[in-house]
Amino acid sequence: MHRDKKIVYRPPFIYDKINLEEGVSMKKLIVYYSKTGHTESVVNRFEDFDSQAIKAQSDDPNQKTVEFIFKPSIDDIKHIVFACPVHGFQACRIMKAYIKQLSDFAGKTIDLFVTHHFRFAWLGGRQALKQMRHLIEEKGGKVRYETSINWQSHKRELDIQSMIEKY
Ligand SMILES: Cc1cc2nc3c(=O)[nH]c(=O)nc-3n(C[C@H](O)[C@H](O)[C@H](O)COP(=O)(O)O)c2cc1C
Repeated sequence: MHRDKKIVYRPPFIYDKINLEEGVSMKKLIVYYSKTGHTESVVNRFEDFDSQAIKAQSDDPNQKTVEFIFKPSIDDIKHIVFACPVHGFQACRIMKAYIKQLSDFAGKTIDLFVTHHFRFAWLGGRQALKQMRHLIEEKGGKVRYETSINWQSHKRELDIQSMIEKY
């Protein structure tokens, strides 16, 4: 009886399960950068996406050249969300540098969101999204949805919820 419990097929079963979970989940990925945690807190509310943070040597918003420590791969990802804060009325430099070094957006669904402080999207949010969209379009990609989350807005919660439902 005791020997029966050491089931020979157990290890392959475990490996199959892990591979299946990775295979399914890695098809929807949020690639993000967050300096002070706002963007990351929104990313963490998406339940059916994996997420990976871009990491650079420096978090200086004004750095001229971005040296990456970790660049998430978007190979095999069908649906990507790029998310970052607005810095100086633009998409943060780390996200722009990250998108610039990507090459293949073929067949991918791409959505964007940014978080920003000022009350009006025209004070940075809209411009940042436009920049990200243009960088993606330059490489042949097409952006589906884009959302600007104003951290000061009383509508912030509603905006976050409706974005998550839509994406
Ligand atoms: C260097 C710097 C520049 C910023 N510039 C802007 C800006 O131009 N417009 C704006 O609305 N918010 C601006 N912000 C506020 C951030 O965009 C906002 O707090 C954002 O939610 C931060 O996201 P994070 O916590 O994920 O880094 C700036 C913040 C920093 C640190």
